[in-house]
Amino acid sequence: MDIKREQIFVWSRNIRLFHWINVIAITLLICIGLIILNAKLFGVSTDGKILLKTLHVSVGYVFAVNLLFRIIIGFIGKAHERWSKVLPFNKGFSQELVEFKEQKKSAYKGHNPAGKLMVLALLFLMLVQMVSGLVIAGTDIYYPPFGGYFAESIAIDKQNIEAIKPYSKVNVDETAYKAMRDIRKPFITAHVYAFYCFLFLIPLHIIGVIVAERREKTALVSAMITGYKYLPKDDPK
Ligand code: HEM
Repeated sequence: MDIKREQIFVWSRNIRLFHWINVIAITLLICIGLIILNAKLFGVSTDGKILLKTLHVSVGYVFAVNLLFRIIIGFIGKAHERWSKVLPFNKGFSQELVEFKEQKKSAYKGHNPAGKLMVLALLFLMLVQMVSGLVIAGTDIYYPPFGGYFAESIAIDKQNIEAIKPYSKVNVDETAYKAMRDIRKPFITAHVYAFYCFLFLIPLHIIGVIVAERREKTALVSAMITGYKYLPKDDPK
């Protein structure tokens, strides 16, 4: 039976822009990250590694600014930009989940409950990547926001911080350098494990979208481009 549908605006320009910048940035970060992770296998030189890390961190800044923009929008934005609409912390969420499992609702204006759980998991991983990435960028190639602090902490001559360069021992106090590497360790571990989680969750997110589209038929994918979903006319929103 053909269900009558109406076009309803859901995803604002802010959300759509965030989403696609995020997709492009994460794809690039994963590709460059994979090369860094397998640098030995690819026979990458030291200069090559520095270049890859610089590239990775440059894309990382775009990713981080975009993510911070999304976090702010979640607090000050309107309608489906707000965290209350996209995270699974709303009142009655567990009931929503039960009804979702029983397939009581034929479509959702925003995310369905499984989608909300996925947003939470992805958001958490993105935050881990942003924080750990910014710290290791500081300890590795001495890039902002923490690079200046770390370079100063390992410099023998504090008046000559500019002499501290990636992969160079010039003006580096060995003991302070070791201490900095110890600080770095848990952050690089978090960065790598979160990366593996991404490799698992991103395909799951895409499968979730396909399954939801087959179930709800609201034009989920084009909604992230145009902002409009097609919802059953007589359904409660
Ligand atoms: C979704 C986002 C991200 C993903 C999937 C990702 C993934 C990766 C991977 C797989 C590596 C290789 C790890 C290794 O060699 O041990 C890496 C390294 C690195 N990432 Fe990211 N990253 C992300 C975001 C960021 C951000 C936002 C920054 C900073 C602005 C950043 C900075 C770095 C740095 C400095 C390294 C080099 C670490 C090393 O010395 O090996 N990353 N990243």
